[in-house]
Amino acid sequence: METQRQILRILADGERHSGAELARTLGITRSAVWKAVRRAEAGLGLAIETVRGQGYRLRAPLDLLDAERVRAAIAPPQRARIAHIEIHDEIDSTNSHLMRAARAGAPSGTLCLAERQSGGRGRHGRCWVSPYGSNLYLSLLWHFALSPAELAGLSLAAGTAVADALSSEGVAEIGLKWPNDLLWHGRKLGGLLLELSGEATGPSQVVIGVGVNTRLGAAGSAIDQPWTDLEQILGAQAIDRNRLAGRVAEGLLAAVARYAEAGLTPFIAQWERRDHHRGTAVELRLGERRVLGTHAGITEQGALRLLTAAGEQTFQAGEVSLRAPGADP
Ligand code: BTN
Repeated sequence: METQRQILRILADGERHSGAELARTLGITRSAVWKAVRRAEAGLGLAIETVRGQGYRLRAPLDLLDAERVRAAIAPPQRARIAHIEIHDEIDSTNSHLMRAARAGAPSGTLCLAERQSGGRGRHGRCWVSPYGSNLYLSLLWHFALSPAELAGLSLAAGTAVADALSSEGVAEIGLKWPNDLLWHGRKLGGLLLELSGEATGPSQVVIGVGVNTRLGAAGSAIDQPWTDLEQILGAQAIDRNRLAGRVAEGLLAAVARYAEAGLTPFIAQWERRDHHRGTAVELRLGERRVLGTHAGITEQGALRLLTAAGEQTFQAGEVSLRAPGADP
């Protein structure tokens, strides 16, 4: 695994590198290089051209993650809140990893990123498509003195922070779909998955997971809803994954600190400005149950306000999903 990682770091520039050069640099045999290259192709789905006697070349260069570059992209006050940055070449899920780490005593401010997730998870038990070397798969572990109930609005606060971070990177017109989707012109650009553990009265530990599509490529065919990625919005040249990861982490670190002091209140106006469905007819799904109504914004706790035939009803974050009426199940 380590050999494969080192080889990919060298091949990431998209130039041709001979087997002899790679073997010499890594202190291994040319046959070990060949095996690692084949493993990367088969296991990670990377296209690596092999020209006999000339070496190996990635068909498309990779912009791989680097902890120091991520850290450098975070402004000093937020950087000071980071306990540790971990970057994994491959992991089941950055959220699952940090939930395990939290149980083993990992400190607040642990940040985990991965090049690929073999079991990336979305909301409602869906899988999150996570190909190697593109997109952003990032999770932050944070410890709060608050109870899990008091953290009900945190996912909306975090969503606002991520939307603002993307905006600051030049993505105009980012929308939010209650509770946790990042949209661009109605197409899914990313999402958040928050997982909490703790005592009923606090303290709590939260893992905030963020997925942002930077380049989905062929992997996009596995997604069953309209999607987009930053490459389509900004063009490939404009995307620096390390900088983007830093800006997203910076936004989250500021948001958790602010939320601990003031709850959701300071985030509400900004959330509602980005709310994609506000004022439109929507259908809420609660398991098998469906509720039709007009989306009327959010409460101080982050619950969805829906004007239904039976009057206004509110729905807590995490209970429902939202679709345009009549959409396929
Ligand atoms: C959704 O929109 O359904 C939420 C998607 C959250 C995906 C991110 S990627 C990083 C972190 N690790 C996971 O397994 N999921 C979240």
